[in-house]
Amino acid sequence: GNDWVLMKTARAPSNIAVIKYWGKRDENLILPINSSISVTLDYLFATTTVAVSPSFTSDRLWLNGKEVSMESKRYKNCLQQIRSRATDVVDEKTGLVVKKESWKDLYVHVASKNNFPTAAGLASSAAGFACLVYALAHLMGAKESYEGEFSTIARLGSGSACRSLYGGFVKWNMGKEDDGSDSIATQIVKKDHWKDLVIIIAVVSSRQKETSSTAGMQTSVKTSPLLQHRAQSVVPKRMVEMEEAIMKRDFATFAKLTCADSNQFHATCLDTSPPIFYMNDTSRRLIGLVEKWNASEGTPQAAYTFDAGPNAVLFAPDDKVARSLLQRILYLFPPASDADISRYVVGDQSIME
Ligand code: PMV
Repeated sequence: GNDWVLMKTARAPSNIAVIKYWGKRDENLILPINSSISVTLDYLFATTTVAVSPSFTSDRLWLNGKEVSMESKRYKNCLQQIRSRATDVVDEKTGLVVKKESWKDLYVHVASKNNFPTAAGLASSAAGFACLVYALAHLMGAKESYEGEFSTIARLGSGSACRSLYGGFVKWNMGKEDDGSDSIATQIVKKDHWKDLVIIIAVVSSRQKETSSTAGMQTSVKTSPLLQHRAQSVVPKRMVEMEEAIMKRDFATFAKLTCADSNQFHATCLDTSPPIFYMNDTSRRLIGLVEKWNASEGTPQAAYTFDAGPNAVLFAPDDKVARSLLQRILYLFPPASDADISRYVVGDQSIME
């Protein structure tokens, strides 16, 4: 009959790039002009429920409780790629069987929410599309035919999403094929490789960014000479150095490269016409704090990085240094009252709001 619904729920983490992706060589397949490296942020995540039923009459999507159009080609591409890999699915609980050939006639409903600010440069689309692809694959019984294949599908939703399918430290190889089959994400090392590393997220503003990464990248590719130089002559070398620093847990090199790459990314934004400003005064004061502290100690104590928004992701080599960093931040931005600042320390990551 028409009265059944099959549902699956998945969760996927956000990630922060320490070597930034900025610029596409193919807009439709989302192929980047340089490779990138990220750290997975386990405590910032998207939770997505996907449902299928013969009573559904169209594909529909709700983001954080509000219905949005599923007409964008990013959703369509992801959905189509997973649908084409669907297999016979047997629901263990009810014994319901959905045959391989019937998936093409079934519509899906998708509901996704984030536990962190959307579109404020905290890679909400990365967590969202990684989660969508993962949940749909689970629902439709789709399997990877080679390792990293699902990352090429998440990439069609949002470039950075391909890196959210793995934990720990992740590399997105730009690839060289025109069809994007080798533009995949792979794990460099698991999270427990560098247990002492502390990540602090300073939410400077939860306002939506003014320039989307899609629009920003387009104008940067067209107008910034610095971006061309960066992609061709700077990033390839940094990729090798960063991977080595991660493998060796060499915090000084990791910090130096992370800060330098964030700053060069924001420099390419400024080098774009019209210029794009993602950081604000608070972001710059946080940079000043870290830079002055590092200079006074003679060796990096902390590192910072900013994506397409004003929020900072800060790194410290261990708990002791992280505490000292938090103290310095609170000294620079004294809370008016305890109620003003909510600080969650969850596992090895903290979120400041
Ligand atoms: O994947 P997008 O379109 O959200 O672009 C991400 C761009 C940056 O976050 C600024 C850098 C990165 O590598 O994640």
